[in-house]
Amino acid sequence: MNAPVKPAKAERGQSSAKLRPTPSQLALAQAIRDGDARVTQATATVPASRYTDPSHFEAEKRALFDRLAQVLVPSALLPEPGMAVPHDATGRPLLITRDKSGKAHVFLNVCQHRGTRLVEGEEVQCASRLVCPYHAWTYQLDGRLLGLPRPETFPDLDKDDYHLKELPSCEAGGLIWFSPQRDADFALARTLGEDFSAFAMDQSFLFRRKTHEVRGNWKLIMDAFLESYHVTRLHADTIGPFFKDGITAGDNIGPHMRSAVGRLEEMDGIDLSDMEAMRRVVTFAYQLLPATIIVPSPDYVNVMVLMPRAHNLTLVEDFMLIPEAPATDKARDHWERSWALLDGGVFASEDFRAAELGQQGLESGAVEQITLGTLEGGIARFDETVQEFLRDAG
Ligand code: FES
Ligand SMILES: [Fe+2]
Repeated sequence: MNAPVKPAKAERGQSSAKLRPTPSQLALAQAIRDGDARVTQATATVPASRYTDPSHFEAEKRALFDRLAQVLVPSALLPEPGMAVPHDATGRPLLITRDKSGKAHVFLNVCQHRGTRLVEGEEVQCASRLVCPYHAWTYQLDGRLLGLPRPETFPDLDKDDYHLKELPSCEAGGLIWFSPQRDADFALARTLGEDFSAFAMDQSFLFRRKTHEVRGNWKLIMDAFLESYHVTRLHADTIGPFFKDGITAGDNIGPHMRSAVGRLEEMDGIDLSDMEAMRRVVTFAYQLLPATIIVPSPDYVNVMVLMPRAHNLTLVEDFMLIPEAPATDKARDHWERSWALLDGGVFASEDFRAAELGQQGLESGAVEQITLGTLEGGIARFDETVQEFLRDAG
């Protein structure tokens, strides 16, 4: 909790100061230019059962998704005070609000009177208060019970005992995180927030969002964003040519991973400390535990939140963040094309499809383990991280 209060939109997004990369973003870009990028030296394997065994999935759910602080949505989904949105895709009935002071909250979307779902649907609503459809108990967006009809019929009720149930949350770098555990630690969310603020994600406009149903294990989707081996092949007809001969560097922020692909021949003479210039030649990607992928393209950012529902079924909510609301039809068309290229083309038709094909193949039992080359070391490191959490959870 203790999220920094978000400034009203009118105060955001108009800064003319140059965006600078964080020191660690700059170090990765320099490692590419200087030829110091980390390279994995050996092949590795991962047992196929880690993707296909329902009991292994249940253990991962307990060790990761029921325990860790995790990204829920971008801040830009609720740009103004007085907004609320139900959110069910994690498997919990959540309600995200931004109260009148600008603070974001994550509640269970459940009325405290008799346990009725409080807000229906899944669209963002502008509301100064939330009224239960059953008996009209009314809550403020900070979770306080404001009032109830016929209060004299509850003679000993103390309204302070009937706040909406709140989960720990944190807003940093344009992302709202939550934790299923009371003793949540959001220190890393704040550290990562500095990176995401360097991409101006905390000032951005949500252009589009879409939830994809992917018939594959959640780690097969993560894997597609943990290696560069497939990029010029699977994506040959879309973004592949843009990454031709790219050089990859990566590091860790706690258990989270950050990678960068640079086009060396275009990096000469570029001021890497100017974020805008750097983003034209270096493409970052973040693989956050348990299952969020952030891909900043040169002028927009995709945030993908993976929400596994079974060992072979994952919901992926893809959000596209752009610098500001499109002011003209031309601008809107430009962003529509980018959305169609990435969400519909690169992700849905290529990366997510590869994950579904992987699930089909692995479930046949034809291979007992997957084999990873030196360009796929990120997958082996991610698998090891997940294994550590499983061991810790006992
Ligand atoms: S259950 Fe919500 S007001 Fe009765
Ligand atoms: Fe890909």
